[in-house]
Amino acid sequence: MKKTWNPGTMLSPLPPALITSGDMNTPNVMTAAWTGIICSDPVITYVSIRPSRYTHELISKTKEFVINVPTWKIASAVDTVGVKTGRNFNKFTSTGLTVEPSSKISTPQIKECPISMECKVLEIRNFGTHDMFLAEVISVNVDEEFIDANGALDLEKAGLLAYAHGFYYTLGRKIGKFGFSVEKKNKILEISSQKFSKENSIKKFQKNNKEETFVENGVEVIVKKNKFTQKKSSEKPTFFPKKEHKKFASKENKKTSYSETSYKKKSDGSFKKKPYLKKEK
Ligand SMILES: Cc1cc2nc3c(=O)[nH]c(=O)nc-3n(C[C@H](O)[C@H](O)[C@H](O)COP(=O)(O)O)c2cc1C
Repeated sequence: MKKTWNPGTMLSPLPPALITSGDMNTPNVMTAAWTGIICSDPVITYVSIRPSRYTHELISKTKEFVINVPTWKIASAVDTVGVKTGRNFNKFTSTGLTVEPSSKISTPQIKECPISMECKVLEIRNFGTHDMFLAEVISVNVDEEFIDANGALDLEKAGLLAYAHGFYYTLGRKIGKFGFSVEKKNKILEISSQKFSKENSIKKFQKNNKEETFVENGVEVIVKKNKFTQKKSSEKPTFFPKKEHKKFASKENKKTSYSETSYKKKSDGSFKKKPYLKKEK
């Protein structure tokens, strides 16, 4: 059963986006989780910012900003620029984040983020604690590293960062694509459960019989050998191998049992077992 609470900002997970403002000479960056997409065509977005933020002042002047999508690798920087103001503090030298020019606006983008969306403000609306900067996305810059051979965006290895109720998270495993629930259901579910099941990872590891290192959602995973019990190569198999078994029951064996014994019929009709004597050649 659910309990009913007072209204709260419980929607999650959210991207803890890095909002750049200003220009290449005087750039600023702050973290904002209150951001999202409003419309697909034209692409309309928003970011809600408290009037006390330095970023609010800068965007109100220039009417443009960039939404940069961060990865787990820069989680610490994401947090720092979300608790320090850039009014009298250089957030770039302290975090190692770097700016580079955008394609269509003067506000720079963050180099370390795989996606940067250049935005032009359409409207500023106050709702209470925050002002919503409603904006049109006029250009999107994507790190070439995440564009596959077909020209499609493949962000699985980027390791995008998520924010939920005061905590940062890496993304979990990919479990399906848009519309997967209605197309060739069984096959896709079977493949995804096979591909991502723990048993499958163990099987893969046992097959390789070595330590395994792979990258999953940008996170390096090391599977240690001693985590799973393995049969030592000196241990004997629990059942007789098929080939050996056949050999055991072959002609050779039959020949042995018939050639060593002979029977002599007695007068009462019964048989007497007697040792077989090899004929001299
Ligand atoms: C994860 C996270 C999410 C945040 N989301 C918002 C937000 O959506 N809107 C906002 O006004 N401040 C938000 N903040 C706080 C600002 O990032 C913070 O006040 C920042 O220091 C403002 O920097 P500035 O004064 O240089 O603009 C968030 C902080 C963190 C750590």
